[in-house]
Amino acid sequence: MTHSLTKSDFGPGFHFGVSTAAYQIEGAHNLDGKGPSIWDEFVKDPRKIFQRQHANTACDFYHLYAPDTDLLNTLNIQNHRFSISWSRILPSGTGEVNTKGIDFYNRLINHSLEAGIEPWVTLYHWDLPQALQDRGGWTNRDVVQWFCYFVEQCVRHFGDRVKNWIVLNEPMVFTGAGYFLGVHAPGKKGLKNFLAAVHHAALSQAAGGRLIRQLAAGAHIGTTFSCSHIEPYRPVKKDQVAASKADLLLNRLFLEPLLGMGYPVNELKILRRIEHVMKPGDELLLAFDMDFIGIQNYTRELVRHSTFMPFIKAKIIKASQRKVETTQMDWEVYPASVYHLLKKFAAYPNVPPIIVTESGAAFADTVSDKQVDDPKRLAFLQAHMAEVLRAKKEGVDVRGYFVWTLLDNFEWAEGYYPKFGIVHVDHATQERIVKSSGKWYADFLK
Ligand code: BGC
Repeated sequence: MTHSLTKSDFGPGFHFGVSTAAYQIEGAHNLDGKGPSIWDEFVKDPRKIFQRQHANTACDFYHLYAPDTDLLNTLNIQNHRFSISWSRILPSGTGEVNTKGIDFYNRLINHSLEAGIEPWVTLYHWDLPQALQDRGGWTNRDVVQWFCYFVEQCVRHFGDRVKNWIVLNEPMVFTGAGYFLGVHAPGKKGLKNFLAAVHHAALSQAAGGRLIRQLAAGAHIGTTFSCSHIEPYRPVKKDQVAASKADLLLNRLFLEPLLGMGYPVNELKILRRIEHVMKPGDELLLAFDMDFIGIQNYTRELVRHSTFMPFIKAKIIKASQRKVETTQMDWEVYPASVYHLLKKFAAYPNVPPIIVTESGAAFADTVSDKQVDDPKRLAFLQAHMAEVLRAKKEGVDVRGYFVWTLLDNFEWAEGYYPKFGIVHVDHATQERIVKSSGKWYADFLK
């Protein structure tokens, strides 16, 4: 059934594209005046990244942006969501602008527009300047000002040509993995760091949106949220309670304050501690009427009660323990997840239109005869697009679908082994090979 999908099923004006992120593809980590980011620093710790890999060169997109953009054009992909490296344009996070960094993004934006590709710029995709981390990073309330200064530079330099802006990429992931679990940069742990980072990211999300609206008339402004459809592991009360706590943290924590509902503190007592970092009037500052919400979904989670888990007494049961089809990330392949999330997000009062700003899967690929046949990734994308269409047909105002991702790239703590691209990259030679999934997408988009 999914094979019969056509672009026109989604209606005119539906945005199909691909998403990428600066640190995962650009490389050129210390070239042309770029300052270090928290990821440049984090990868130096030998315990943190699979096989001590790093993204110093990654896909060398810094030098290959032109052929890669031409490739997008060949693949009929008209929307490219990419991010701006904060420390490439502001090496120490604030202050002096690095003109060579500005030049790079000007080249990328201009080349995209010449090729008929619409840029969708993510302002923050996890690579905070290290100089700002040295002052506390997301745990320091000053980050809201630092971030606004960065946003202002981006809008002033690129806003004449860039219309689509995405304020943050998945705040739950960069605060949770980076400031609670310590498995992503900057490797901080604990509830205190986490709650401070959450609040300052949520304030920045709204402040960034307000600033773009003020500076760039007609801008199309959104922000993105990681989300997973969550179900109780067993049909018992304890697991249902655990599942709803996980849902609160993974799906609701950043969305609800943005919509003006405040943090869901009444349903999770431990969250009340966020009030320690709040100032009078903050509730109002957390809200902003985005033009769209980006949802990014990869799987569903099954959750059970667990007395061993501090704070929320809930535990995710890994897909590998459940005998289901998985990806290289040990994430269950569960296409209906995106459908349920679209319905869930759309059910909030006053929610703006939704765009699926990331959807994709990592499967091991083999190159044979300069070809990469990836039937699993292809089936994954088709099945997920069919679920997006199902939600749209049931009335959800969903306006786009962006595949994660164009190129096999640096998958954060996992390094290079998870292959998410619709284009294979040989990281030794930087050779690109369009996979079957990429060819199918090109054909679909024709
Ligand atoms: C992130 C990407 C990441 C992808 C796959 C999202 O959480 O935005 O940077 O590579 O998921 O894990």
